[in-house]
Amino acid sequence: MRISLLSSIFLVCFGSLRLAYGQNIDPECACNMSNLWLDVVVVIDNSKNMDHDGLNMVAAIIATVFAQSNISQALGQTTRVGIVTYGQTAVTKYNLTAFDDTNTFINTIFDVANKPITDTTSYIYTGLYAARDALYDGRMNGKRDNVRQAIILYASDYRTQGQDKDPEQLAQNIKANGIDIITVGLKQSIDDDLAKLAKLATPGMAFSNTDTDLVGEIQRNGLCQINCFCPNGWTQYTSQFGLASARR
Ligand SMILES: *[C@@H]1O[C@H](CO)[C@@H](O)[C@H](O)[C@H]1NC(C)=O
Ligand SMILES: *[C@@H]1O[C@H](CO)[C@@H](O)[C@H](O)[C@H]1NC(C)=O
Ligand SMILES: *[C@@H]1O[C@H](CO)[C@@H](O)[C@H](O)[C@H]1NC(C)=O
Repeated sequence: MRISLLSSIFLVCFGSLRLAYGQNIDPECACNMSNLWLDVVVVIDNSKNMDHDGLNMVAAIIATVFAQSNISQALGQTTRVGIVTYGQTAVTKYNLTAFDDTNTFINTIFDVANKPITDTTSYIYTGLYAARDALYDGRMNGKRDNVRQAIILYASDYRTQGQDKDPEQLAQNIKANGIDIITVGLKQSIDDDLAKLAKLATPGMAFSNTDTDLVGEIQRNGLCQINCFCPNGWTQYTSQFGLASARR
């Protein structure tokens, strides 16, 4: 085992770099929310498509997902979170430097959910675009530039605005730049378009509010997988090489 790994042409990296070669242990990354080292922008459709209960449900899901996280601006294995809302246009309500602790973030997310807007249309493109900008802005001057970045998109509808504002193309571009996208389809109104929404997501990270363990899926199959990565020049050890959605 040791010899074949070392002589193989790839360098294989296990999730936790503390694991030594040759040790016969499960190579899956540990999933401990309090140790995540991520920059995340949460994108919420708060148009008329979402009613009051729907928005409160989204807030409750987000609050539960991040309840154990260490949201902080401090260096170390901490998470920074920003909030973008969108209807016809998007607003960066809170950028990545806004939150210094988890409780303030959780209270704020309920506050945001209690302020739906009057737009009857929501364009995913605008939400994704603002999220990407917020992630870039949070990186200025090389700040936290080793930290993995993610967008969690809560969408109630899939509408496009013409070819130059194609959500799928924008999502490809975002993912090509190393940012992962988790999608959550909300309400029945998006049922027909769930497959389109899933195309925006990183493989294996498209979810729906009808999933029985949505919070667990976002945590284990989303954020923890994104947190599990290799330094440059190494190849991720996965449960199945060549399969994009394989566990890391
Ligand atoms: C997760 O990490 C925290 C902080 O390092 C630690 O206190 C806690 O016991 C860990 N939880 C699990 C389930 O390993
Ligand atoms: C959060 O991370 C910071 C920086 O590493 C650390 O000092 C602090 O104790 C952590 N807080 C919790 C609740 O784990
Ligand atoms: C975040 O928002 C604050 C307050 O609006 C602003 O002062 C700061 O420059 C912003 N930071 C980034 C990185 O965009």
